[in-house]
Amino acid sequence: MGDVTALRCPKCGSQPAAPTIFKCNSCGCILEVQVDIDHLAPSDLQTISNSRDQSIWRWFDFFPIENRNAIISLGEGGTPLIHAVRLGAQLGLSRLYLKNDTVLPTGSLKDRSNSVGISKAKELGFTTATVMSTGNAAASVAAYSAAAGMRSIVMVPAGTAPSKIIQARACGATVVVIDGDFDYDVAKLYQAAIQEFGWYDCLSSNPYRSEGKKSYAYEMVDQLDGEVPDWVIHPTAGGTGICAMWKGFQEFRALGWINRQPRLVASQSEAAAPIAAAFDKGLTDIEPVVARATVAESIRVGNPSSLGWRALAALREADGTAVTLGDEAILTAQSLTGRLAGIFVEPAAGTSVAAVKKLRDTGTIGADDLVVCNLTGHGLKQPEAIGLTDQELRPIAPTLEALREQIHKSTDHDVTR
Ligand SMILES: Cc1ncc(COP(=O)(O)O)c(C=O)c1O
Ligand SMILES: [Zn+2]
Repeated sequence: MGDVTALRCPKCGSQPAAPTIFKCNSCGCILEVQVDIDHLAPSDLQTISNSRDQSIWRWFDFFPIENRNAIISLGEGGTPLIHAVRLGAQLGLSRLYLKNDTVLPTGSLKDRSNSVGISKAKELGFTTATVMSTGNAAASVAAYSAAAGMRSIVMVPAGTAPSKIIQARACGATVVVIDGDFDYDVAKLYQAAIQEFGWYDCLSSNPYRSEGKKSYAYEMVDQLDGEVPDWVIHPTAGGTGICAMWKGFQEFRALGWINRQPRLVASQSEAAAPIAAAFDKGLTDIEPVVARATVAESIRVGNPSSLGWRALAALREADGTAVTLGDEAILTAQSLTGRLAGIFVEPAAGTSVAAVKKLRDTGTIGADDLVVCNLTGHGLKQPEAIGLTDQELRPIAPTLEALREQIHKSTDHDVTR
């Protein structure tokens, strides 16, 4: 049974009066969940590894859910960790692995956190869940709320890709498109709405929800037969993935299940890179930026106020780094991942591959290092990024001659295009 010891402030140590309070009332910091795992023994890792359950819930003891009956699962987790031989060769890496989270139930990493978050909502007795989102979280909260029998109300900024709105709508969410900047106008309304209506908050300001992404760490160690990657690269917006993975690896280390930890890398679009900027300046907290337009829409976050500071701390403790990428590099990485590894990622997810390329080119990552790139969202989330031309869609006559001409014209062999 998952054993929630407490919610606790990671800055001042205060504990809240109730499990539904997510913010420290002394210093305003987002609280952190303390799950008691001390009872786990080395043999438990083997037992879990042998479990028929491939979802994140095979790691139940690490999550803040008291009762298995409260679990809301769509089979999230257990995603393939693929040795990408051809892509690795192109980038100069013999051991490049891709953690393919595009195959999660709603096509993005958000399902890891929302399965835990919505299970907790059920346990706490909430009936309505809400999130503000650049798109992926909206679809995920909608899906898990549907499975839980809860209402979902999701807020997205004007300009969000229609495919993401459609996904949330299809799962019964009330989708509200808001005219205004995501980090300021949408965020302000979101906080006011939670105060006013008492809805369950599914943002990174919810300490339970963040715990779900610890499963990245557990799954990697399990899938690599106990080996720990040298590097793990994560497309980063709010910082949840970096914080949670770090916590997951630390838990395994505390249990003696691993004896070293990976170096973590946050990959960001240079149009929205507050974590990378603060890391480079040696700051302990982020300075919000006004996020500019970028193809990496899903990670376009300029003010990661909840967990930005903890992501910075995790990157430093992990002897990691943060990398920023321009749109051209991101689209090249998206293209390479499709053409050389067979995985269609959305541009935001391609930042992890773009970051590896950059770090390998500068010699920071060695040719034989064991590298894992998290591929965090499916390409169909934002299909327009592929830039299909009218010419490609134009039908040809049903003749061999026309077919020959079309094949001749195709430049698809050029993988670096
Ligand atoms: C595709 C994709 N990748 C990565 C992230 C990164 O989020 P975080 O830094 O909170 O782990 C997000 C969410 O914003 C996303 O939608
Ligand atoms: Zn505090």
